[in-house]
Amino acid sequence: MKEQAREITGKDGQKYTMKSINAANAEQFLDFMYQVSDDTHFMTRYGDEVGQNENDIEEEEKRLQSLYDDSRQTMTSIFDNEKIVGNIAVRSIGKGRKTKHRCEIGLGVRKEYHGAGLGTILMEHAVDFAKNAGYTCMELEVLEDNTKALGLYKKMGFVESGKLPGGFKLDDGTSIGEISMYKLL
Ligand SMILES: CC(C)(COP(=O)(O)OP(=O)(O)OC[C@H]1O[C@@H](n2cnc3c(N)ncnc32)[C@H](O)[C@@H]1OP(=O)(O)O)[C@@H](O)C(=O)NCCC(=O)NCCS
Repeated sequence: MKEQAREITGKDGQKYTMKSINAANAEQFLDFMYQVSDDTHFMTRYGDEVGQNENDIEEEEKRLQSLYDDSRQTMTSIFDNEKIVGNIAVRSIGKGRKTKHRCEIGLGVRKEYHGAGLGTILMEHAVDFAKNAGYTCMELEVLEDNTKALGLYKKMGFVESGKLPGGFKLDDGTSIGEISMYKLL
């Protein structure tokens, strides 16, 4: 969804720009995803699984543009100058009549920007966007050891609906449960 760029202020007093991204931001977004996925094990992929070659960029351009052109989905990023430092995705779970009321979100903020309130700003934005788009249920998955994200989601009114034991298996063999959460809008 195309959204107007707007200035936001972090808890650190720093000014940022928040806007929806499209094909033109594919390289910036992959660089962001690489770092966030490399910093912690909380994202779906390892950093080295986030490709950044020409083909990967082309694929990402198509994916971002199709989300941008869809009035019920968005990839909204916070920029520090030209760098994406945080992002939230709101995606449809189903397009058919039985599930079109449900959306899912994915969230990340670069490590050096944690604690400035950017995750909260992105979540609040996603909830407003989803309500305006007509969704009545927002869903997400979070690892059981992701204390900070769990705290943020509970603060935003999400409740747990279940846990998949061993949803993630790390390279070193560690198994981590994946918690499902939802919020009625
Ligand atoms: C989770 C994440 C998005 C939070 O981003 P952030 O910009 O640091 O978040 P904010 O500063 O807006 O909010 C922090 C909130 O987290 C919660 N929180 C922070 N530390 C916490 C802790 N030790 N225990 C419990 N909750 C905590 C609080 O609710 C806090 O809000 P408050 O400051 O109003 O009390 C960020 O840590 C991140 O990107 N982590 C790596 C990727 C990731 O885990 N993504 C989510 C995958 S499900």
